[in-house]
Amino acid sequence: MSGKDLRAMLESSSHLLAFTGAGISAESGIPIYRGADGLWNKYDPNKVADADYFFHNPAYYWQFVRDVRYPALRDAAPNQGHRALAELERMGLLKALVTQNVDGLHQDAGSENVLELHGNTRRIRCLDCGGGYVLEALEDRMRGEMPPSCPDCGGLLKPDVVLFGESLPEGALQEAVRQSRSCDCFLAIGSSLVVQPAASLPMMAKQAGAGLVIVNKEETPLDAMADMVVWDSASSALAGVLEE
Ligand code: APR
Ligand code: ZN
Repeated sequence: MSGKDLRAMLESSSHLLAFTGAGISAESGIPIYRGADGLWNKYDPNKVADADYFFHNPAYYWQFVRDVRYPALRDAAPNQGHRALAELERMGLLKALVTQNVDGLHQDAGSENVLELHGNTRRIRCLDCGGGYVLEALEDRMRGEMPPSCPDCGGLLKPDVVLFGESLPEGALQEAVRQSRSCDCFLAIGSSLVVQPAASLPMMAKQAGAGLVIVNKEETPLDAMADMVVWDSASSALAGVLEE
């Protein structure tokens, strides 16, 4: 499959929707979750990505943020894949971008219509006073105390991410479903397509008559129903589209 084939497929669409997972941020140094060197092989998601566990032991969660999440995020910059999607939006080809990622790199690359299904780990909320902070501003606090307390009221802080057991942001999910049902081309990039409800969006698009394109480094459970599968890295597959 060449960049020319992928470009032709995307150019023939009049309502292109992109759907991204951790794989598109891998080349920015953000670890993916599954597979050989996935995060969930080293850290138990039932502890570091679970709502009940967070409220039971917030210090454990925040140590993961301080020692793992934040160091990767602090140094991360958008890569060619993020930039290509922002360019496709500027060209008027890409109408919306649904992401499972919580790193904010699509926005940093210039994408505007971004639907964050799992929230954004760089946005921090105080659960007591509702105060909002950016993770970068809490770096010293994270070094001084675990869990870091709210600078305003001393309350419990939580990143604005959807943990297992929490519901997805209603507005983003509704719009993602609407977009999936009305697009004519659904471009899934860098996702293992195993986590619900996100992974049902490609099927919704397919059932509504859209073409399904999957760009991923390895096979996904939806490859058999895809109209085009590109086994490549996000940045090189998307760079190929723009070069053409
Ligand atoms: N380019 C394209 N794909 C890549 C790249 C790359 N450079 N590097 C890795 N991949 C692929 C992997 O082969 C894998 O199939 O990206 C996929 C990432 O899959 P996951 O790690 O499962 O990430 P994702 O699909 O986003 O997970 C969904 O699960 O744990 C939850 O909330 C978390 O949002 C996350 C959700
Ligand atoms: Zn507070």
